[in-house]
Amino acid sequence: MNALPALCSSWILWAVLSCFGSVSGGQPVTVEKQVFARTGEPAELTCDYRTQPGLGFTVEWRHAPTGTPAIEAHRVFYYNGKVYWVESWENRGVLVQNPPVQGSASIRILSVQPSDAGLYVCDVTNPNDWAGSGQGLVNFTVLMPPSTPTCSVNGDAYPGNDITLMCVSSHAVPAPTYTWSREKNAIQLPLQNLVEDQQTGSLILRNLSAPFSGTYTCRASNELGGAVCTVVLSVSYTSSAMVAGIAVIVTIILLLLLGAVMGYFLWYKKRNRKSTEEGHNPRDPRETASAAPLTRSPGDRPVHLSGDGEDHLIPTKPSILV
Ligand SMILES: *[C@@H]1O[C@H](CO)[C@@H](O)[C@H](O)[C@H]1NC(C)=O
Ligand SMILES: *[C@@H]1O[C@H](CO)[C@@H](O)[C@H](O)[C@H]1NC(C)=O
Repeated sequence: MNALPALCSSWILWAVLSCFGSVSGGQPVTVEKQVFARTGEPAELTCDYRTQPGLGFTVEWRHAPTGTPAIEAHRVFYYNGKVYWVESWENRGVLVQNPPVQGSASIRILSVQPSDAGLYVCDVTNPNDWAGSGQGLVNFTVLMPPSTPTCSVNGDAYPGNDITLMCVSSHAVPAPTYTWSREKNAIQLPLQNLVEDQQTGSLILRNLSAPFSGTYTCRASNELGGAVCTVVLSVSYTSSAMVAGIAVIVTIILLLLLGAVMGYFLWYKKRNRKSTEEGHNPRDPRETASAAPLTRSPGDRPVHLSGDGEDHLIPTKPSILV
């Protein structure tokens, strides 16, 4: 990727000086100041000079990883009539012109690694022509498409509330642009209730109401690609806290009901036992009556007792039913 034309067109006055400076020959050493490449691709770090190499001519490339100043750059390449690469670069870097004595000290990285990013210094020294000696600074950027972003909701989605939807992609070079969207068939929301920040990825939703419910999609994108995440918003008075509260109340009611049923059951059993004990009392007229059908002959119809004013089909334990 060549960023130079873009720089020339967007910063016209500055571009006239820096982009065409090399053509007019003001600088002894000229470089492509901004170089972009993707991981795994080759990249060329361009460095041209105008001097005629004489005795003691040297070329040196130094690298300062992203975040460290150029002054802390480590040597990666050296030429003094013989080509030297530092160990970690031996099979990764090549000279564009070998030997580099015809005006080009450019190097090519065969397969870019993220750790190659940072500042490069191209240093050309010609002791026979100090005016033709000099150095150039290259800012090398390793591009990365956005990693899958993370979508989140800040705030409670009650009607009338304001909430913020957040979207963050942790890796992206250059920095991504975030755009939020809703389903195609979603109800149009009043624009004054939506505040989107494409740099930070936030989307503020003001004065929520039912039409705000639905799926929101965030897309993080840069020149290399894009990735999305979604968040489902449901605007209602019932928050998760309320749902939990209702669940607790329902549980308590169920426990109370269970207790009542068990209490009744125990009371019923106790009373049953009591009346059975009472049943052994021969003075109980119902006992004598209820004993009768057990001894009846097979042909007998069920006996209907009417002594207590009720009909009992099988009056084995009439006392229970009273
Ligand atoms: C290098 O270029 C990147 C991308 O344009 C920029 O963000 C960064 O600030 C530059 N670094 C320096 C030291 O100029
Ligand atoms: C919020 O929205 C409701 C209708 O949904 C409207 O009646 C009310 O005026 C709005 N409040 C503000 C502060 O905009």
